[in-house]
Amino acid sequence: MSDAAESPTNPQHFRKVFGHLPTGVVVVTGRSLDDELVGVTIGSFASISLDPPLAGFFIGRASRSWSLLAARGKFCANVLAASQTELCWRFAKDAPDATVGSRFDGLEVGVSANGSPVLPDVVATIDCDVHAVHSFGDHDLVVGSVTALRTLQTDVPAMVFVQGKTGDARIIS
Ligand SMILES: Cc1cc2nc3c(=O)[nH]c(=O)nc-3n(C[C@H](O)[C@H](O)[C@H](O)COP(=O)(O)O)c2cc1C
Repeated sequence: MSDAAESPTNPQHFRKVFGHLPTGVVVVTGRSLDDELVGVTIGSFASISLDPPLAGFFIGRASRSWSLLAARGKFCANVLAASQTELCWRFAKDAPDATVGSRFDGLEVGVSANGSPVLPDVVATIDCDVHAVHSFGDHDLVVGSVTALRTLQTDVPAMVFVQGKTGDARIIS
């Protein structure tokens, strides 16, 4: 029997246990209908299907960024390099007084095939059109049709995230 502190309905406990599971880190970027740059750090991004090519992620339904990206129906997953810890936290921070676009301040941003922002020095980009959205609890599962994908840096390790810290995906045995 688990006590209340170890219950699945205790968010701290839920986060702590899932924090042992390493994930990759992407910044999902896009543009709002007003052409504002949008970007949010996501650890749940994964490939879903090869034929047809589908990929997706889970995002909190309260997310400001997601409501802006959903309106446009396109996004780009920017796969972060192990060294890009600052970008990981920058695009995860709440900025209630600022516009979502302020997360891009000072960055030299490129443009992906579908017009989404490409962050500097990322390992790869995956462009998607929103194909389907399904709600589960307090999150949406966003399924994207992959329309373009590129490796931008072959000799740079991708980031992993585990127990609240960033690390290097190539330090594996
Ligand atoms: C490494 C990492 C991974 C994250 N993964 C997710 C995720 O998969 N889904 C999600 O909804 N939030 C995730 N977050 C939290 C969001 O980045 C954070 O809540 C952000 O402030 C949401 O911004 P928004 O309100 O502009 O959408 C993650 C944060 C970090 C640091």
